[in-house]
Amino acid sequence: MTKLDIARIRADFPILNQRQRTGSGIDRRLVFLDSAASSQRPTQVIEAMDQLYQHSYANVHRGVYQLAERATQAYEGARAKVAAFIGATTPDEIVFTKNATEALNLIAHSWGRANLSEGDAIVLTIMEHHANIVPWQMLAAERGIEIRWIPVTDQGELDLSNLDRILDGAKLLAFTSMSNVLGTLNPVEELVAAAHAHGAVAVIDAAQSVPHLPTNVVDLGADFLVFSSHKMLGPTGIGVLWARQELLEAMPPFLGGGGMILNVTTDSFTTAEVPAKFEAGTPPIAEAVGLGAAIDYLEDFGMQNVRRHEVELTAYALRTLTERLGDRLTIYGPPEPAARGGVLSMALKDVHAHDVSQVLDEHAVCIRPGHHCAKPLMRHFGVAATARASFYIYNDTDDVDALADALVAADEFFAL
Ligand code: ALA
Repeated sequence: MTKLDIARIRADFPILNQRQRTGSGIDRRLVFLDSAASSQRPTQVIEAMDQLYQHSYANVHRGVYQLAERATQAYEGARAKVAAFIGATTPDEIVFTKNATEALNLIAHSWGRANLSEGDAIVLTIMEHHANIVPWQMLAAERGIEIRWIPVTDQGELDLSNLDRILDGAKLLAFTSMSNVLGTLNPVEELVAAAHAHGAVAVIDAAQSVPHLPTNVVDLGADFLVFSSHKMLGPTGIGVLWARQELLEAMPPFLGGGGMILNVTTDSFTTAEVPAKFEAGTPPIAEAVGLGAAIDYLEDFGMQNVRRHEVELTAYALRTLTERLGDRLTIYGPPEPAARGGVLSMALKDVHAHDVSQVLDEHAVCIRPGHHCAKPLMRHFGVAATARASFYIYNDTDDVDALADALVAADEFFAL
């Protein structure tokens, strides 16, 4: 294990190297604590995309000139990097989508419509992001399938006491590997094994975990896994669907258009091999190259080291915030730092999360208030909103101290 040099890392992120003039005219260092919504990106990623646009850009899989071949190699090279990063057996199992949300919609639309019909049941958890709820609800409304729910304990963990009964006869279990609200790390292998024991396929929404800890899809035993580039130092506009190759081969296409066909006549079409079958139209070429550069950047540090840094920072944050704010502050989720990612959903007594965030902005501390696109989970805790701080590779204890100072200031301001 190597300790990360955060000052050196921060120097790679020009956006973090700025000050913010607050409403009261004070100039403060920007403290970015909203990486669970979208991370920042290092110059290495920005320059990789810039290089492609300046020297090697053309459409991919179409032209036969050298420039187009270089662009195709760069695009397919990124696919190979993604495959290696998550332990996929072949790059053909990697489908580039717009984001994790589109990847989940693809599964529901394609696998779901091909395999689920009236009376079938699928299982979700109460801690899902809307991206892993609404596509299934759309399918349920269309097909008359039943959605069952794995409940959550008051500590913000999945309540697996009735898992066998909930999974009985179900055809699919879709769950988050890490809650975007609570940071809870779910027992992925146990859930996948339980799904398979009941003959269900396992879909993992890994948008929050792939950026922060080592992932190996073969070890997890999963069938589908999705994530987004913009939460892992890469650009927006590209996400990843990984699925076992035989599943992808058996699934009908999602979007139709150029690039996904083998042949088209006036009557019909035949589809290309995977993954092209699922990549209709001009794909996110520069974005794939940017994602590949983000993976190179993360791998230089090693995902074990990224994870260790975040556990240490989360432990420091839980300790510091509890010491500084006591019972004025509620922090949701598992109390043990090793059981969670670097995400802290907080409620300051008698102060709305939006008001907290506004005072924090006065201190140049960026956090996200709201329901975090996980309304069933918020309902479980009986709150409309929380104030969420989330950490990444570029955050350190100074950032946590700035968060604590700003929360104390918010507490004092609203106590007046
Ligand atoms: N899913 C993102 C979040 O949790 C947008 O903020």
